[in-house]
Amino acid sequence: MAAATLSPAQAMSSETGSAARIPRHLAVIMDGNGRWAQRRRRPRVIGHRAGARAVNVCVDFCLAKGIEVLTLFAFSSENWGRPEDEVGALMKLFMGALEREVDELDRRGVRVRFIGERERFSDAIVARMDAAEAQTAGNAKLHLVIAASYGGRWDIARAARLLAQDVADGKLRPEEIDEQVLGGRITLSDLPAPDLFIRTGGEKRISNFLLWQLAYTELWFTDLLWPELDAATLQRAIDDYSGRERRFGLTGAQLAAPDETPE
Ligand code: IPE
Ligand code: IPE
Ligand code: MG
Repeated sequence: MAAATLSPAQAMSSETGSAARIPRHLAVIMDGNGRWAQRRRRPRVIGHRAGARAVNVCVDFCLAKGIEVLTLFAFSSENWGRPEDEVGALMKLFMGALEREVDELDRRGVRVRFIGERERFSDAIVARMDAAEAQTAGNAKLHLVIAASYGGRWDIARAARLLAQDVADGKLRPEEIDEQVLGGRITLSDLPAPDLFIRTGGEKRISNFLLWQLAYTELWFTDLLWPELDAATLQRAIDDYSGRERRFGLTGAQLAAPDETPE
């Protein structure tokens, strides 16, 4: 059963026992590239280029710590609305990264997956994404999920459409639809839900990232801009996370004695 569909008590017990409280799944909004460049009086695209390097810092950290899943928000549904030259530059960078990085990720045992509205990308990029997924499909050291052309609302709407199709085809009755059935059609339902969310760049918002999947994720924000990311910052986030009590709607007393019947 996917961890995303665990009951609160099941999710809690799998959490509380974990040694040193390393998150299994880390979800990151990589924000602040544009401001990093603007502060240096450089075009925004220079910030995106520097941001691509910071991705490697994050991947290295996850591999070193044994984090199982890393989901990176690379490009949102709304980012398509940015000026044409910035979108074009981001597409070029994306294509370049796919050409350059996949062999090395494969060699290091990283499985790459993309979530988002893939159809909006050019055929050349889609072909590269498909090839990267196929090449790395057998890897299990780290599951690297790139959210590109992704929106949490798109994800939920897509899941609803898939269920509606099942109903139309006579495979599902409307009264059978519950959180578990809908959750099973949301992206990443085969992976544990994110334990820790990190956003760089100082903004305190979700910006249409994993809306469904973040229901009980611990949130951590830093003013540091994405290109400035280093292992020490990621370690601070992990340390903060490991000191938190995740209650999943239950009481602190229930967490302390999970086998006792609540009063
Ligand atoms: C995040 O950095 C990268 C993308 C959204 C593609 P931004 O480009 O949003 O940088 P800021 O927030 O404007 O500094
Ligand atoms: C969120 O950053 C999307 C990505 C990092 C890919 P944005 O810069 O697009 O978010 P807002 O506009 O500040 O909410
Ligand atoms: Mg931004």
